[in-house]
Amino acid sequence: MSPQPDAIRGATIVGTGMYVPERVVTNQDLMRLVDTSDEWIMERTGIRERRWSAPDQASSDLALIAARRALDMAGIGPGDVDQIVLATTTPDKILPSCACTLQAKLGASRAAAFDLYAACTGFIYGLSVARGAIGTGMADTVLVIGVEQLSRITDMTDRNTCVLFGDGAGAAVLRPCAPGDGIRAVSIHSDGVMGDLLEVPSGGGLSPSSHETVDRREHFIRMRGKELFRVAVRGMDESLQKALVDAGVAAADLDIVIPHQANLRIIDAVRERAGVPADRVIVNIDRYGNTSSASIPITLDEVVRAGRLKPGDHVGFVAFGGGITWGASVAKWTLPVPVGANGVAAAHTVAGAPRT
Ligand code: ACO
Repeated sequence: MSPQPDAIRGATIVGTGMYVPERVVTNQDLMRLVDTSDEWIMERTGIRERRWSAPDQASSDLALIAARRALDMAGIGPGDVDQIVLATTTPDKILPSCACTLQAKLGASRAAAFDLYAACTGFIYGLSVARGAIGTGMADTVLVIGVEQLSRITDMTDRNTCVLFGDGAGAAVLRPCAPGDGIRAVSIHSDGVMGDLLEVPSGGGLSPSSHETVDRREHFIRMRGKELFRVAVRGMDESLQKALVDAGVAAADLDIVIPHQANLRIIDAVRERAGVPADRVIVNIDRYGNTSSASIPITLDEVVRAGRLKPGDHVGFVAFGGGITWGASVAKWTLPVPVGANGVAAAHTVAGAPRT
């Protein structure tokens, strides 16, 4: 992709919000479902617990709470939203889009709403859409959401996957800003040739759900973890380097890096390659597991509300996911520290720290 000159106007995050379901599922809970152990899960992934939705909760319900919190922080209402860009692999239904369902629940009647399908990289793809829409003047206020209910498409008899995933939602409101501020670069990539590394084989147009497909458990995620691990590290590293160059920012000048929370070992490997100090890389995978497109906006909201980002700071986002897709973004932060933030993100694990 060509370099990204500054648009006529920039786009910046003016509000964030997140929501995770109440139900906490620990590694000990999973030991009652499959042959696994807390030691194996912690050692191989860094995950201690994750959240699963209640039976009556839909992705749009999770997204609604995150969206309201982000709009509140931005000091605007649903009627101000021009676009809702909702990244998910677990929409409420195949039709209508989850974004349209959220639009109705939120009362964002002026907004154009659509789903974006880029798996765990969805939030970064969403930032690129928002930046383009705001930069060209097509929209003034864009609500970007990452929401997932991976518990709904995970085979709870498959120990290779059921320990990894969790449910949650994160949201960001973007508005215009001075060129050079806000989202300075977005670098997004895909390689469909490797699509079968992570797939849900049935339930789409190619293989519609039937008794047979359900008997074969083809409505659940299937993953080739080792191969994904290798390409994840390479893709995340390359896209972060590209976004840094496009933004004109050195890795050493990143104040905060928020990686997709898929596996602590992947995060550590990307951090080491990029040469970013461990205390600047935010990790909460121990508490939420892999929430796919929601993991970056959930983590961002925790960082913002803890007061760890101040105007002028540089923040990097980097992700990898099914498709396969990968990407990164670098932003110059403009949002003031929220009133009441304590300035300490005490709950965050430091990347590279012992995993006990
Ligand atoms: N508990 C105990 N043992 C297990 C478990 C478990 N939960 N899961 C697998 N094992 C076993 C395997 O059966 C295997 O046993 P074997 O040697 O007797 O066959 C052994 O542990 C080693 O399995 P590996 O797959 O080699 O383990 P690995 O070290 O690669 O870790 C993991 C597996 C955690 C899945 C890792 O490969 C990984 O994180 N890959 C990336 C996955 C990822 O990021 N996916 C999501 C990306 S896209 C998105 O975020 C939606």
